[in-house]
Formats: sequence, C-alpha cells, structure tokens
Amino acid sequence: MEVKAFIWSPGELKVLNQLKLPLKEEWLSLKSYKEVAKAIKDMVVRGAPAIGCVAAYGFTLGVKYEEEDPKLVYETLKNTRPTAVNLFWALDRMMKALREGRDIEEEAKRIELEDYETNKKIGEYGATLIPAGAKILTHCNTGALATAGWGTALGIIRSAHYGGKNIFVWVDETRPYLQGARLTAWELLKEGIPHRIITDNTAGFLMQKGKVDAIVVGADRITLRGDVANKIGTYSLAVLAKYHDIPFYVAAPTSSFDPKLERGEDIPIEERSAEEVKNCFGCKIAPEGSDALHLGFDITPADLITAIITEKGIIENPTSEKVKKILDL
Ligand code: MRU
Repeated sequence: MEVKAFIWSPGELKVLNQLKLPLKEEWLSLKSYKEVAKAIKDMVVRGAPAIGCVAAYGFTLGVKYEEEDPKLVYETLKNTRPTAVNLFWALDRMMKALREGRDIEEEAKRIELEDYETNKKIGEYGATLIPAGAKILTHCNTGALATAGWGTALGIIRSAHYGGKNIFVWVDETRPYLQGARLTAWELLKEGIPHRIITDNTAGFLMQKGKVDAIVVGADRITLRGDVANKIGTYSLAVLAKYHDIPFYVAAPTSSFDPKLERGEDIPIEERSAEEVKNCFGCKIAPEGSDALHLGFDITPADLITAIITEKGIIENPTSEKVKKILDL
C-alpha cells in the first residue's frame, strides 16, 4: 500500500503528522487555512511538492469553505516557508483559477493529481540512468511523504527497484530533522527496498571506498541556470561526488523551477530556530549558553550537477539554454 502524506475530502484536509513518524502514525484533521499554514510552518507536512499541494487545499478551505478574503488567505499560506518555490507556484495557480471563475477545489485536486503523474514520469526517466545493482545515496526525504505520492528522487529509486534493477540505498539521516532516518527509511522499509541509514558525515568515506555508484536528491527551487536549493548538506554531497567522479542527479518537477531567478545566490534560504539543532526529540544535546546556526537549505551550483531529471525529460549538464528549453521559455 502506497504511503500518503495528506488526504482531501470536502472541507477537511487530513495530514499524516511527519513530526511523529516513524514512532507513531498520527493523522491530524485540518479544517481551516490557518491550521494548514501552521502545519506547513511546523513541518507537520514538508517536502516541496507536498507543501504546494497542501497549500492549494489550504487556499480552498480558506476561500471556499471559510469564505475569507482570498488575499489574506494567500498571504498567510505564502508566509510559511520561504525556500520551496512549489508553495508560491501552487498558490499563484489557485489565485489564477479564482480570478478566472473556475472551481478552486477542482484546481487543488488537479495540482495533486498532476504531481503524482509527474513523479511517475520522473521515476521512469531517472531509472534509465541507474545501472543494475547500483548503490544509490540519497539525502532528506523526497518520497511519497514529500509529494502527492511516489516521490521525486525516491520515485527514481522506487522505479529502479520495481524495474528489477536490484538496487541498494544509502540513507543520509539528515540532521537536524532526520527526514532520512525517520521518513525515507520508513518508506523504504514499508516497500522492502534494501537500505541502510548512515550519519551525514559517513557519506564521504563511503564514496572514497567505492561504495556509492550514484547520488540522487530532490530540489526545493531550481534557477534558470540550473543552480539547485535543496536540504542542507546537498552541496557537500555534490562536491564529494565531483571529487570521487560519481554521478550527481537532481530529480524535480518543473514546478520546482523558478523562472524569475537566474542565480542560486538569489534563492531565499530558510533559517530555522537554533533550538531545533540544540535539542533532539525534546532532549537537550548542547549547552544552554551555546548558540547554533540552523540553515534549512544550501545551494548546489549547476556545474556540480550531472543531470536534472524532470517529468519533461533529462537535462544533462544543465545550462540556462537547456533549462529554458525544457520550461518552454
Ligand atoms: O525541510 P524539508 O523537509 O521540507 O526539505 C525537503 C527537501 O529538501 C526535499 O529534498 C525537497 O523538498 C524535495 S521533496 C520531493
């Protein structure tokens, strides 16, 4: 049975509380746009495409069911997380549907369905790049929990696995939220995909030992020249991959591209609370008096990326020209 991160029914959005996984499978019922905004901000739901889908349903709750001012609903949902462009992409699409007098609930459902179909295509394209028996390293969680289903980078892993490629997955634990250890491992285990969790700082040594054949990660925002914002630690993996001559793949739907930005440096990087670094599951792990820096994402420049895999095809050695072509710009 495939994992779902959220389930819509008229007037209610149920979300699987990702803060509690894998210890507890708790579903929360959200009936207002403010509850949806809080769930996104608190990372009850996370992952760029899932944030976009959930925001679209939040907009539906606010505008159609609560009859609130669309501008207020839009702004509240928009001001939850700054890096994943899918959030703004989905909200803009909802606003457009509203302006054009279309049923916004149907538009939100379309966004969800399209994301699922998109991921299946990314999976098919991506699996062609994965050799049989490959040991794949992945970072954060890019699976069904981070999307409308199947996943982006994890979708490629799923497609390769179900395509009989006999793959193995190294799962970066992904400090400090542990999306890898808690969520990716949970998804892989449910489907019997062979894997092992590693601490983030183990990745380089495994590459040096020849135990990584490919790295596949997702994206929160991709610029026109192909620079990628993704979970903090992605850039370090890309540099290590270059040094060790290992292919470094980014999997993302075209809704994760920001046609307004050329350079990675211009992507806003979310800074979260230092407490999320100094505490782990409610336990203090650092001295009270020490400060911590918690950046949610980093930028991987295009020249470190072997290929970006989208639902419209594979962009090898990304450049502005190639990105614009795939985006029809
Ligand atoms: O902070 P998160 O958990 O929302 O970050 C998620 C990631 O960085 C993912 O790699 C990205 O959103 C792609 S998910 C298909």
